[in-house]
Amino acid sequence: MELKDKVALITGGGQGIGQVIGENLASMGAHVVLADINLENAEKSAEAIRANGGAASSALLNVTDAENVKQVFDSIAKEFKPLDILVNNAGITKDGLLIRMKEGDWDSVLTVNLKGSFLCGQQAAKQMMKQRRGAIVNIASIVGVMGNAGQANYSASKAGLIGLTKTMARELASRNVTVNAIAPGFIDTEMTRVLDEKVREKLVEQIPLARLGLPRDIAHSVDFLVSDRASYITGQVINVNGGMLM
Ligand code: NAI
Repeated sequence: MELKDKVALITGGGQGIGQVIGENLASMGAHVVLADINLENAEKSAEAIRANGGAASSALLNVTDAENVKQVFDSIAKEFKPLDILVNNAGITKDGLLIRMKEGDWDSVLTVNLKGSFLCGQQAAKQMMKQRRGAIVNIASIVGVMGNAGQANYSASKAGLIGLTKTMARELASRNVTVNAIAPGFIDTEMTRVLDEKVREKLVEQIPLARLGLPRDIAHSVDFLVSDRASYITGQVINVNGGMLM
């Protein structure tokens, strides 16, 4: 029970990678708050954790809405205690080649993936700096490191998130708050299920471990980064991609 008495908020915790991160942190003893724009999914996932004996609640959160973000973070501090762990996991894709990309698709992806992490990170930092401890993990992406045709908006948002991670790590280190990013490769979730079979096969050919990742492959790295075992790790980008990028 490494995370006993700790409170963890996971954005986009209603499904996919965020849901499994929530399950793992709860199994390590944390009270997890699954915060998602899809409240029904968040509540279903929280209920499943509770049914397994873990502590979990759900919250309606749109990471792009500064007021909503503040209200959710304030109410966690009031209802439970100030936050110990934040996982900025909410993210979207709106793919298209650069020359055809609509301005709105650029804006919405940057707003959810990057501004959302800034807004949540800012609220978490306020609570964690006062407590003089905390761990923040930002879920970036392999394409934020290497780029990807058809994902100008998404790769820019994730590259930006890596920059944000490093700056937050530098600003918060003196208060004993660590900030790291995980850059997953291609993971089998709703997000990648929209790709057609041929594209998925082509992707697998580029992965030395010869499979897409699973949500738990990412969640295991989060488990480590938020535990005391990683207390001397900050400002890092952990690549979890089956060897696709070395
Ligand atoms: P997903 O689409 O299954 O889940 C994303 C979750 O975020 C959903 O529950 C959705 O409702 C929530 N969400 C979307 N917009 C939101 C908003 N404005 N406010 C709050 N919640 C919002 O996606 P998946 O695959 O689980 O991805 C999780 C994270 O991992 C994302 O940041 C994604 O960019 C990143 N990632 C995923 C990869 C993959 O191959 N699946 C690869 C690399 C990174």
